[in-house]
Amino acid sequence: MTLYQLIRPALFALPPETIHRVVTQAGSAANGSPIERLCRHRYAVEDQRLAVQAFGQRFSNPIGVAAGFDKDGRMPSLLASLGFGHVEIGGVTAHQQRGNPRPRLFRLGEDDALINRMGFNNKGADRVATRLANTDPPKAPLGVNLGKSKGVPDQLAPEDYRYTYERLAPHGDFFVVNVSSPNTPGLRDLQRRDRLEAIVTDLQEAGADPLLIKLSPDVAEADAEGIVDLVEDSDMAGVIATNTTVDRPASLRSPHRAETGGLSGRPLAERSTRWIRFLARRTDVPIIGVGGVFTAHDAYRKIRAGASLVQLYTGLVYRGPGIARSINNGLLRYLERDGFTTVSDAVGADLI
Ligand SMILES: Cc1cc2nc3c(=O)[nH]c(=O)nc-3n(C[C@H](O)[C@H](O)[C@H](O)COP(=O)(O)O)c2cc1C
Repeated sequence: MTLYQLIRPALFALPPETIHRVVTQAGSAANGSPIERLCRHRYAVEDQRLAVQAFGQRFSNPIGVAAGFDKDGRMPSLLASLGFGHVEIGGVTAHQQRGNPRPRLFRLGEDDALINRMGFNNKGADRVATRLANTDPPKAPLGVNLGKSKGVPDQLAPEDYRYTYERLAPHGDFFVVNVSSPNTPGLRDLQRRDRLEAIVTDLQEAGADPLLIKLSPDVAEADAEGIVDLVEDSDMAGVIATNTTVDRPASLRSPHRAETGGLSGRPLAERSTRWIRFLARRTDVPIIGVGGVFTAHDAYRKIRAGASLVQLYTGLVYRGPGIARSINNGLLRYLERDGFTTVSDAVGADLI
């Protein structure tokens, strides 16, 4: 039993957002401190076979922190020291937002899942940029998730995304257009090709590169095909699949299952893997797979389905700070078992 498993019941006795605030405050204080060296020593798995080269960046391993965990970029360097190969901060919006009223984050313990309707609560592009300018960058690629400010009409969305990009441009190694969060009304309509194209063109004119798009698992296949076309036509760097779902599988058992918002964690795993496969069959751009990754087996399935990199959020909540180490060690065992020299050799192995 890990230490985290021992203390988890005490943590889970508190409301999820309270714990997240405490973790963020502690993490923010530890960010850039000597504690990171201790964490790296304990959690980093150094092995060339895990290294991934994607969209011009080198990742020391394929496992990253998904957007939403560190919305304001308060602890990217600390998160990297837990053995993650990249960290995506945000969603950041042009202006500070309080998000939806609380409670807005729910633990579905029986289902290894969360439901959230945070609504892009964040400090806004200016403050996040100032914070990043005053801290050492993480020793791993830093992604920035760009969100749309609430209330900004669709026709002004390109300017809104561009503002955030321009503020954060000096600090990020890759940028993600997030048009897939279910908690900003109308946001997912921007996945329609014409609307998305305007945003992408504007961001690219401003210099956003590498630029990725994050997909909703609830999108229609025809719209996903339109997105793939746009990614290829406009030379975008990759696709992240997927965000949370508004769907509620009949298998959910937790009392919170009827809460409004996006569902993440175990019940999303297969669905997001299906999207990875769908995308990998249609495009050669790198795919970042995310949704319900708790174990090396979960990550390996996504890699074999076509993901070059994998991210997680809910798994970190349920499995604790040792999750990247445990997945990376497990991945090495799978590579050996299946005769792959590197993790990149396993990408898309199930597609043939
Ligand atoms: C509380 C919470 C907040 C999130 N905020 C964002 C966000 O701001 N932008 C985004 O693109 N995804 C956000 N996500 C989605 C995650 O990045 C991820 O796509 C999703 O949770 C599925 O992965 P998981 O099952 O490993 O959690 C959020 C998820 C959670 C649980």
